[in-house]
Order: sequence, then structure tokens, then C-alpha cells
Amino acid sequence: MTVAPASGNDTAQPRPVPEGHVRLTIDGIEVDAPQGELVIRTAERLGIVIPRFCDHPLLDPAGACRQCLVEVEVNGKPMPKPAASCTTAVADGMVVRTQQTSQVADKAQQGVMELLLINHPLDCPICDKGGECPLQNQALKHGRGDSRFVDTKRTFPKPISISSQILLDRERCVLCQRCTRFSKQIAGDPFIELLERGATQQIGTGEQQPFQSYFSGNTIQICPVGALTSAAYRFRSRPFDLVSTPGVCEHCSSGCSQRTDWRRGKVMRRLAGEDPEVNEEWNCDKGRFAFRYATASDRITRPMVRDADSGELRETSWTEALRKAADGLLNARDSRGVGVLPGGRLTREDAYAYGKFARVALETNDIDHRARPHSNEELDFLGSSVVGTGPEDGVSYASLEAAPAVLCVAFEPEEESPIVFLRLRKAARDSGTRVFHLGQWDSPGVEKTTDIADAGSPIHSGGLLRCLPGGEAAALYELPSEVEQALGEPGSVLLLGERCAQVSGVYTAAMRLAERTGARIAWIPRRAGERGAVEAGTLPTLLPNGRPVSDSVVRSGIERAWGMPTGSLPSVPGRDIDGILTAVESGELSGLLVGGLDPADLPDPEQARRALRAAGFLVSLELRPTGVTEHADVVLPIAPTVEKSGTFLNWEGRPREFEITIEGTGAVPDCRVLDTLAVEMDVDLFTQTPEAVAAEIRRLGPNPGVRPKPPDVPAEPVTEPSGDRALLASWRHLLDNGSMQHDEPNLAGTARPPVARVSRDTARRLGLEPHQPIRVSTERGTVALESEVVEIPDGVVWLPGNSGPAEVNNVLGVGHGAVVGIAAGTAPAPGTTPGQREPAGEPHGETFPAVAGNGHHSNGHGPPVHGSNGNGQAGIDGGGA
Ligand code: SF4
Ligand code: SF4
Ligand code: FES
Repeated sequence: MTVAPASGNDTAQPRPVPEGHVRLTIDGIEVDAPQGELVIRTAERLGIVIPRFCDHPLLDPAGACRQCLVEVEVNGKPMPKPAASCTTAVADGMVVRTQQTSQVADKAQQGVMELLLINHPLDCPICDKGGECPLQNQALKHGRGDSRFVDTKRTFPKPISISSQILLDRERCVLCQRCTRFSKQIAGDPFIELLERGATQQIGTGEQQPFQSYFSGNTIQICPVGALTSAAYRFRSRPFDLVSTPGVCEHCSSGCSQRTDWRRGKVMRRLAGEDPEVNEEWNCDKGRFAFRYATASDRITRPMVRDADSGELRETSWTEALRKAADGLLNARDSRGVGVLPGGRLTREDAYAYGKFARVALETNDIDHRARPHSNEELDFLGSSVVGTGPEDGVSYASLEAAPAVLCVAFEPEEESPIVFLRLRKAARDSGTRVFHLGQWDSPGVEKTTDIADAGSPIHSGGLLRCLPGGEAAALYELPSEVEQALGEPGSVLLLGERCAQVSGVYTAAMRLAERTGARIAWIPRRAGERGAVEAGTLPTLLPNGRPVSDSVVRSGIERAWGMPTGSLPSVPGRDIDGILTAVESGELSGLLVGGLDPADLPDPEQARRALRAAGFLVSLELRPTGVTEHADVVLPIAPTVEKSGTFLNWEGRPREFEITIEGTGAVPDCRVLDTLAVEMDVDLFTQTPEAVAAEIRRLGPNPGVRPKPPDVPAEPVTEPSGDRALLASWRHLLDNGSMQHDEPNLAGTARPPVARVSRDTARRLGLEPHQPIRVSTERGTVALESEVVEIPDGVVWLPGNSGPAEVNNVLGVGHGAVVGIAAGTAPAPGTTPGQREPAGEPHGETFPAVAGNGHHSNGHGPPVHGSNGNGQAGIDGGGA
């Protein structure tokens, strides 16, 4: 939009209206606006604020509240009544008068406000929205001074729970339909509806149908009154006693911007931040509500060492703990070496410190942050195709929105990266993007990106390409021709999820598919720290910024940058996480340095526990106790995200920097602990602060050498199950037993119920009654879950990865694509659901010691696959593609 300049010269020719624009006046200001723009938007850009409730720039216009009335004249003729500026499009020659210049508009707005307030309760002093309420603000600014209404107000029993997290006070509602439109249009979760008609019209949910949505918290944030509140925050504080600090979500790789509201050192709530390029104005409920893990009563706040006499951990001073850790690590290093397992939840700066500590202080490349199923093929893929890319030259949210077709490979966007899911849905709804999913069953996320009801006319596009678990690689060589064709359109994208690491040959197959079609590839890990860790060099084959360990030229560059003698960096690629644990168990490695990972997340938790028991010396940097703590010789407490600064790289490779929110707790980030530990070992890391690390990463710059070679792994044929055997398909729910969702019972109540899914034929084969539990077993253990029949290949059973009793890795010791035993079962014993929640407590321990003395601390086509159609070709289900 351009604002036409005032003419100072009567003889000047009128400026031509730019192509695709119209010229109108608003409150006497002439303005050129794009055709189709809504009057409320054009006025907004002129700095004229028209009051509104239902209007939201990211939702379809509704014209529901009538608060935005303005006086309009078209072709010199006034419209008979004031018009809603949020549904009226600009037109050439239009004259608009808002409340600022028109008594008619002002009176109309006052009248609407009076009607809205007739039944609105006088809850402001106790309403959560009080102090930040558009109704309160606009009533004061645009309402009448007095009310003419003297009757008794309508009341409802209040509040009603529409889910375990969301509460509704119906009499506060102004029926703007923002919540229902968000749920239908943006999230695709139409569980919340406008019910009844006329004076009894109200928001509600269907009977026996709670508001189940991973995005429900957004409705609280956009509700223009206090009708929707969260059970976790209701009555906890008022906006004016809160300090708001911008931040970045630490949960997944979407990289949401967020706002943290805190008071007296305690986080009270989190809201979605605004970032049009990333999360727009949304976040998921995990990011919004899961933050109390950082103040859990079992948080480790003081260093601990294992007492030589009692064999128990005892709290001690930083000085003693660091001394013991340094001595133990030096001995282990000089004996047979130390492996480093930093986990996937670190900031880029903390991860960098682990990588540097491993190479410089421990003289090893035995480091791997992938605390999950992983593969060497994945390692090659990350080195050749992921590291060093960013939103400018790789795939971004914007490119997803513009893509003609997207294929999700072993990736469940709604569960693993919710904002990617929202963007795919938006792309399908608004831009006609065809979204395909290579997977096993029509999960809610698949349905909501391929079958969109609320878009004028229904959209059925893309669809599920069904294949056997483990058959994804072969399926990529045999895609239906129309899918290959769609992916051949310029701008198409392949999205690879973390489950790809469990399917041999899938990265290779995806890269070949990209070569054939021209589609671009993006990797979407589940955890927030994974992408940054790849860049930071916490992999056995990569130094910082994608420099291959095996390249002598880049090694010597790093040696110079790190002030190391020439030839001192270890030149042989290290062991991956499996290799490290195997070596520790067999005694080939003497020690371990572990950063906040849980053995239950590893592909073989039993092996991990054996290795932890066998480790000659074990140092653990932790926030709360994990399965590592009980074996650790030294435990060093570290700061949670809210108490430190740093950077997460989201899946796009976009840096998401954040500052400290809660200051002065004494908690320190991993990079500073490692820096001080290194000093104790007579090594300077220069990683005392995240800022110093970030500067060092910038100084290093990109990899000056050649990229490692891409993977070349053939697809493996899938073993057909028979009899009482089945192939396991599994991925994790967004809300599950994860330790960072600790102490959030209201959030946990909105998690998807864990059920085991099988096909009708498989259920019949097992003699399963509806909902009868199914037992899924390996020689390691058994998971029993209520069954549900869905369209899934026969001989396949799907389990959530870590929900309720379904701790797949931990209990079964296998993952996606494995052969398991299945049988009809009896109901699981009550109380088998892990994850007891404990009340929050006050953390914060002893001050971390200042470091003195070293002066640096100022700061080709593969084999066929056994697909659902039996001939190896994945067919498209649903979506009518
Ligand atoms: S609950 Fe809030 S967002 Fe929903 S219709 Fe009512 S006022 Fe609007
Ligand atoms: S989508 Fe991911 S980054 Fe965004 S709020 Fe949710 S968990 Fe956090
Ligand atoms: S804001 Fe225009 S009708 Fe509600």
C-alpha cells in the first residue's frame, strides 16, 4: 500500500493508481491499497485504529461482532447503514469515515458496545484478562459513559471445563468466533462450536467430546475477553504484576518465538510470540504450558560427588566436585579414553562447548548427541546435506507455504513439529499445496493436511502413501507416478523426520528422489537442540560448522583457531553413541561425560544401563535426576533454558537467540561448567559465556573444505510378518511421558490416549474384541494397550513411542520397523502409567565459583518394497490425489 502524497500543485497531473490497486480516502487521507484489501487493514496501516473483537489478520473475516462499523460512501453514494470494516473490501473512489471523523460511525460503535455489555459480567477485578482485555480497553475508549441497562444480567454456572486445560466462562463471551475459527481454520480441530441460536447462543463442545487440540492455548490468547482461561494459570496473577520477557521455546525444532511472563523469579505463564516468518502468532500447548519441569522439587541445585565410603552421592562444593571430575576424567582419558554424550536438548553454544571439550580436553572424537535411534547413514546425510544450510538457501517455512507439493517421509508433523504442521495445513488450505505422507495410517495430522473442510469448498489433496514400517526407503523408489510428477514441480519439498534413522536406505532413497524430481530436502528433528548440535560439531565425524574431522586442512584451521599445537586434534572419526556405549561396556573406553540424557530414550536402554554401570568414571551434567544420576561419580547442576541465554537453531537452520529470563538464580549453563572443568584439567576452552561461544562460532565461519560424501545405502527388503508376529510402527505423541512435561497435570489431560492400532484383519486374526487390549512383546518385555482398528497394513501394529505404559524403546528394546509378537490381552494393571507428578519446589543452590587465574574469562533405483498393495508400490490413500 502506498499513501498518496498531498498535492501542493493544482496543475500537477494526478498520479496513476498502481497496477492491482485502488484509490480511496479514509478520514480524509487519500490512500492506494491493494485490490481486495479489507478497509480495517488499510486504516490500520494509516495508523487509524478501528475497534474490533472478531477481526484477526490470520483468520478468515467473520463480521460477527459489529464493533468495527464505519461510514462508507461508494461512487458518491453513502451506504444505507454503517458497514463492518473487517468484511468490507476497499474500492476505487470509496470514502470511509471512521469513529474519528464520523458521528454516525462513533454512535454505531457505541451502540454495539452497549449491547455487548448488557450481559457481560462485572468480573474485571477477578478476570484473568483484566488489564490486558480488548473489551475493557475498547469499552473505556469507545463506549458510553453510562449504561442505560438496569435489568438483571444473564448468568451461567461458571466456569465449565471444555478440556482439562481450558475453562470457559460463558457469560464473558462476546461470540466473536475467534476461538471456533482458529480451531477450524488454523488447527483443524473443530471440537469447539457455536451452540444454540439467538439470546442463548454460546460457545461449547459436543457431548462427551472435550476440546482436544494440541493448539488449544492459542484460543485463550486470541479470545478478546476473559471467556477462555487456562486451568494452570487461572487466578494466579494479574498482567500488571508480571514482567514479560521474549524468548524461544526449548521443546521442539519448530523454533517458536514466545513471551514468558514471570513474577518474583517464577514463571507464571508462557504465550506465543509473534514472528511472521516462523510461528506467525501461534504455538502449541506443549510450548505454552510445559515449563514447570525447571522448578520441580527434585531439581539438582548443588554439585554432588559419590562418597567413597557410603557409595552414595552427597552434595558438595563446586570446588570439590570440579576437582574430582577433572581428576577422574584425566585418569580415564589417559587410561583408555572418555566418550561424550551431550543429548539433543542443548543450545548451540552449550553443544559447541561439549564438542570443544571432547576434542581439546579429552582428545577424542567419540562424541554423539543423538540420544535416540540413529544410523551412520543419517550421519553421512547430516554432513553432506544438512549442516551449513539455512532459510536463505535451504527449505524454510515460506518455501513450505509456496510449495506445490510436499512429501513427509517418516515424519509426523503434528506430533513432531507442530508449527510445520500448521504451515502445511495453511499451504494446503490457502495455496493448494498437495501434502503427501509416507507412513502407515491416516493419523489426525495426515487427515488435517489432506482433507480440509473449512475452506469455502472442501479440499481433498495429497494423501497417505501407505507402506510397511521399515519399507519407507524402498517405497521412495516406487512412488506412484502422479506423486513423482507433483514433486517434479518447481519448489516441491521432501521433509525427513527423525524416524528415518530407523529405516535403512531412506536418506539415500530420498536424495535419489530429489535428484529425479528436483524437489528440495529438509530434515526436521524432533528436539530443539538437534540442529544446533549438528552445526556445533557434537558428532563423531564433524567439527564445528560442518568441517569433516577427516580433512587435515580444516583440522589444522581449527587447531589454529583453538590455539592447539599442529596435529593435536584427533584425526580419526569417533564412535557414534552405540559405539561409545559398547566400548564403555566392554572396557575399551574408561569414562563417560554425559549431558542430561535419559537412557530410556536410547535405542537400547538396557545396553545403555549396562554401559553406565561399567563406566570406570562417569560425570553427568544434569537439571533433574535421570537414569544416569544413579551411576554418576560426579553430578554437576546446570541451568534450564529460562535461566540462561543462548541460541537454538530451528529445523530451517534459523538462529533463534534468547536472553536470560530469570536472573540471579546462581544456575550456570553447560558451556560455563565445561569451561571451568577444562581449566581444572589445565585446558582453556574460552566458553565461559554463551556470548563468547557465539562470537567464536561466528569467527570460525563456514566449512572452507569440501562437504563429506552423501550416503549410499541400499533399501532393505521388509520381512513379512506371519502368525503371531507383526511389524512394529511407532512414533511419539507430542504430549507424552517426556520429562520436560513434568508436573503439568492439566496439560497431560489433553494428551492423546495411548492405544495400539491394528487392521481389521489383524484384529480378526487375534480374535480381538473392540477395545480389547493387545499385548505387544519382544524377549525384553511386553506393552499392553487398548486396541483400535484403523486402516493400516495387515500384520502391522502401531504403538505410541512413549505414552503411558507404551515406553517402546525402554520396555521392548526395539523400534519402528522391528518384528514383535502380538496377542490379545487383558486390561493392563492399574497404575502402570509412569511419570508420577510432584509438586513444584524452590530450586537454587550455591553460587558457581568465579574462575580466576587463566585471564581469559571476561567474558539409482533400489529393490522393490512390500507395500500395502503387495507389489512394493506405495498407493495413495485418501485425499483423492
Ligand atoms: S470464547 Fe472468546 S474467542 Fe470464543 S467466541 Fe467467545 S469471546 Fe470470542
Ligand atoms: S511447536 Fe515446538 S517450538 Fe513451538 S511451542 Fe510447540 S514445542 Fe515449542
Ligand atoms: S471486528 Fe468487524 S465485525 Fe467484528
